[in-house]
Amino acid sequence: MKNSKKIDWTALRQDFPILDQQVHGKPLIYFDNAATSQKPRVVIDALTHYYERDNANVHRGIHELSNRATSGYEAGRTRAAKFLNAKSPDEIVFTRGSTEGINLVANAWGAKNLKAGDGILLTEMEHHSNLVPWQLLAQRTGAKISYVPVTGDEGLLDLSRLDALLTPQVKIFSLVHISNSLGTVNPVAELCARARARGILTLVDGAQSAGHCPVDVQAIGCDFFVFSGHKICGPTGIGVLYGRQELLNAMPPYQGGGEMILSVEYQKTEFKPAPHRFEAGTPDISGPIGLHVAMDYLDAIGREQIWQHDRELARYAYDKLAALKNIRLFGPPTDRAGLVSFLLKDVHAHDVVTLADQAGVALRGGHHCTQPLMHRLGVESTARASFYFYNTKSEVDRFVDVIREIQKFFGQ
Ligand SMILES: Cc1ncc(COP(=O)(O)O)c(C=O)c1O
Repeated sequence: MKNSKKIDWTALRQDFPILDQQVHGKPLIYFDNAATSQKPRVVIDALTHYYERDNANVHRGIHELSNRATSGYEAGRTRAAKFLNAKSPDEIVFTRGSTEGINLVANAWGAKNLKAGDGILLTEMEHHSNLVPWQLLAQRTGAKISYVPVTGDEGLLDLSRLDALLTPQVKIFSLVHISNSLGTVNPVAELCARARARGILTLVDGAQSAGHCPVDVQAIGCDFFVFSGHKICGPTGIGVLYGRQELLNAMPPYQGGGEMILSVEYQKTEFKPAPHRFEAGTPDISGPIGLHVAMDYLDAIGREQIWQHDRELARYAYDKLAALKNIRLFGPPTDRAGLVSFLLKDVHAHDVVTLADQAGVALRGGHHCTQPLMHRLGVESTARASFYFYNTKSEVDRFVDVIREIQKFFGQ
């Protein structure tokens, strides 16, 4: 651990008003953080303050409120650049989330740079948001998609196949940093370096990593990186696309409208440089303001510390679940991110989640928007517990007790 400062994790829970409640008469245990995180009071207050004191449209007015809204919005961009260690705020495009960031690249970069016969490389563990936009692009352009295989239940990428898959036809390799279904942490810096050595661009889907571990886009060496604000203690509806500046400036706009233009005539338009050319219309203004506070909040704790904490909880939960009978666990037994995915023998994941909910434990069951991966593993769904820094070992103990009770209920 880079910084060994002592953190009172239980005290941090008091920053999250939502955690202090009962669900079905039981204390809430929120283990659905991979779907969305909870929000600390400071983020909620920043949003309220913005709407109560500063609300106005950005980049248009010369009046005081518009100046405040604009500087709050742009300060969020500068903060996001620092959060990812981008070279410049001009490399930060605000989006609705990871999904929109990937769609933006697939549309704006893909439409200009891909043609029939070109290749797109993905992995078998991608979320639908890093799969469907590329399928749509492939249908439009005639490009072909190939996949780095997953080894099996332990959920690692079979990297022995990578060199053969990085063919001269492949123009972009888009891959997930941390799998939301398996908890696998992919060695993205190494994978991006191998692609770059062959002149292939890379996009890293950081939806599950950005708020959970330190992220340095220059050290990763990716060309694009996306994440969602709502998964890192920020508001919903705001996300970030990082792109290397020369790539963003060479990409055509994604959508047209106000704010993204330098000049418009009846027959032609001149566009602003990036990032503004990708932010047509009135954006989500409170989003970057709330996200800014969330990023400050996380970095005040320390993302390295959060990473260690989440991984320790996952290790603890994994080992306790592995000691049960009639359970199948997915993802790597060691070196996993802060989540565990599992199936109880002869019990549907939805039944596990429904019964856990009755006990106050919020899990997720389903294909986790990774249907092809589920089929690759020969299952329809899994149950998933995903952790964040406000979760505790005693919550994991209670969760495992609840799983045992569910097994008993089903006669196991
Ligand atoms: C790995 C991964 N990628 C992308 C996404 C999509 O994020 P959003 O729905 O915020 O756009 C998710 C959401 O769960 C995810 O887990």
